[in-house]
Amino acid sequence: MTTILVATEKPFAKTAVNGIHDIVTKAGFELKMLEKYTAKEQLLEAVKDADALIVRSDIVDEAVIQAAGKLKIVVRAGAGYDNIDLKASTAKGIVVMNTPGQNANAVAELSIGMLIYLNRNFYNGSAGIELRGKTMGVHAYGHVGRLIGSIAKGMGMDVYAYDPFLAKTVIEQDGVKAVDSIQELYSKCQYVSINLPANKETRESINFELMATMPEGATIVNAARKEIMHEPSLLKIFAGRKDFRYVTDVAPDCEAQIKTEFATRYFATPKKMGAQTEEANINAGLAAARQIVAFIQKGDTTFRVN
Ligand code: 3PG
Repeated sequence: MTTILVATEKPFAKTAVNGIHDIVTKAGFELKMLEKYTAKEQLLEAVKDADALIVRSDIVDEAVIQAAGKLKIVVRAGAGYDNIDLKASTAKGIVVMNTPGQNANAVAELSIGMLIYLNRNFYNGSAGIELRGKTMGVHAYGHVGRLIGSIAKGMGMDVYAYDPFLAKTVIEQDGVKAVDSIQELYSKCQYVSINLPANKETRESINFELMATMPEGATIVNAARKEIMHEPSLLKIFAGRKDFRYVTDVAPDCEAQIKTEFATRYFATPKKMGAQTEEANINAGLAAARQIVAFIQKGDTTFRVN
């Protein structure tokens, strides 16, 4: 029997699990669930007899890959696959995929939501500020970036974007101003949304020099990955500029210090929840299940990342 394991420390909504179950059982496969697990040993045990694995931000490192005797495919139900050891997977002939775009709207909505929450002083009733008429910089114009640009435009913001992998004309088709460099984006925009994957090019790439060029009221929203921020720079800009603000779905390691010293200019969700909506769970979870069925039955490797 072909076994599909869903291993989610942060579980999908019930409706998504039901949908995954339907797809898997209709294909004649068996579904196994490991939800809300608290120890890595549980994952190591569960993966032993799995032919396919669906995860979210769950760490699939070399130990997991080695423990998996029959594994042929891992699908990250989501965008970023920095939690999966691609080298170890490839070495064992295991295909790795993601489900690009499927949870993007949820992340985009949360990003704008966090900015409004900050601008309205955490809903404490005091006079806040508005987004309308302000500049928004979209750092990386992928699935999430595009949606943030579109929501920001709808709110009357002046939207700029930088993406080295896209022709400027593609960005400009959406009525968004494409800029030539990261430096230009940050120096033009009061608000910047970071929508980058974590990889060797992007890790710690948002540094003091870049943030220091932002206009008055400089505000960054990061619903991507904490590793993208250079944390000493984050502390330095908070200390050096009384107008600098930061909201994030991926709290930095230096959070305790920021909370102590700059609490009114900072917000982080208690646990990464950008993609935690029923719709995003259904879109990403069902896409992952379908991709696995198509791979096992037809050898379809669309969305392969290794
Ligand atoms: C992603 O990369 O898709 C997002 O960061 C969502 O991650 P999650 O599935 O752990 O919520």
